[in-house]
Amino acid sequence: MSERGSFGSKLGVVLATAGSAVGLGNVWRFPYMVGENGGAAFILIYFGCIVLLGIPGMLGEFVIGRHAQANAARAYDKLSGGKPWKLVGYMGILSATVILGFYAVVAGWCLQYLFASFAGQVNGDAEYVRQYFVSFSSDALKPVLWGIGFVLLTHFVIVRGVRKGIERISKVLMPLLLLLLVIIVVASCLLPGALEGVRFLFMPDFSKLSPSILVEALGQAFFSLSLGTACLCTYASYFSRQTNLLSSALQIALLDTFIAILAGLMIFPVSASVGVSPDSGPSLIFITLPNVFSQAFATVPVLGWVISVMFYALLVFAALTSTISMHEIGTVFFSEEFHLPRRRAAWIITLTCSVICVFCALSVGAYPDLQVLGLQVMDFCDKLTANVMMPVGGLLTCLFVGWCISRRTVYDEFTNGGTTNTGMFAVWLFAVRYACPTCIILILLHQLGIL
Ligand code: TRP
Repeated sequence: MSERGSFGSKLGVVLATAGSAVGLGNVWRFPYMVGENGGAAFILIYFGCIVLLGIPGMLGEFVIGRHAQANAARAYDKLSGGKPWKLVGYMGILSATVILGFYAVVAGWCLQYLFASFAGQVNGDAEYVRQYFVSFSSDALKPVLWGIGFVLLTHFVIVRGVRKGIERISKVLMPLLLLLLVIIVVASCLLPGALEGVRFLFMPDFSKLSPSILVEALGQAFFSLSLGTACLCTYASYFSRQTNLLSSALQIALLDTFIAILAGLMIFPVSASVGVSPDSGPSLIFITLPNVFSQAFATVPVLGWVISVMFYALLVFAALTSTISMHEIGTVFFSEEFHLPRRRAAWIITLTCSVICVFCALSVGAYPDLQVLGLQVMDFCDKLTANVMMPVGGLLTCLFVGWCISRRTVYDEFTNGGTTNTGMFAVWLFAVRYACPTCIILILLHQLGIL
């Protein structure tokens, strides 16, 4: 087999992995979740989930991946002592491929909106902007083509390899993304009446709390950290032996959360300024925002145009570094397990995802009757992965590192052979052995209506 890829530097490790974590989950899903679930109270619970469940889970995947230096299925298999843990790896690969299928639909919308806002087509009154989205998304061809286009874009980065493809593009796109985000946040917070939006984001209203918020917050935390699909395990297999797993995990989780908050600071103040309620759900950034931008910056029309082009560029960059990570899981699996050249393996994933993407795109557009178990295919894929497969994947991963792999191996990996973070090992081990599994099981039971 050819030499495995690896990330070239510490910065590369953090930016590429943060690139996976930071995505539409932060800029699209997080704001509408916050909007629907009552603002700051949701955010507090979300923080809790990131710290108590997200970071330990992330470290679990890092330990497995870095130790095994192999694709997800083989990584679980290598450490399993002959037990069928590799099924967790298979499940991860499957869920990542399904996620890529529906994620590409939304990413494709972003790409279309980038061009449309550049051409000045999404400028108009509220009704016009709404109509624009409805007619675009229910077209039988356009969303499908943009979605497949996005998968192909991902494909062409993937075939360039780990260091020249994934790492290089993350090093360019991540700083750019942060820069665009900060510019829009500043513009948004300077608008008259923006403070109301900031307050919504930071002043908790505890009367809004309910168990279902807990489920949503956990799902969001897993989704946002790319957890539970062996994605982080695959990236960790490209880490060097010197990489400090704990500090990398902390940096990545911090960056991911920081960007989600910035995304909130970009969207809520601008919505508050023109008096639009931020609870319009998934279509928030496609229906509410274009209109909000043009109203908010009506006095300087060029500014409205610049901001909306920047906004959709930002979404595309964020989405791309994430789709790359989902694609990589399957690509490296096929290439290592079936001894295929990377290019061929990548095509297998590209074609599979494109098929899923076509069904998802049509189910939310031209053919709403495309349903599975009473849900539109797109919704079905989202619910199946975020509410079932990812939490189950995360749970099994915690149990695997906590109880199955030899303590010596886990200790060596976590502490780089006893040289760093030795004091935190016991705390982390307690989390993955007891705390995380208990919380995830409770939340899963709640979802099934048992609790
Ligand atoms: N974390 C990414 C986001 O917030 C999405 C993502 C990338 C992902 N890779 C993943 C989600 C693997 C689940 C599994 O948009």
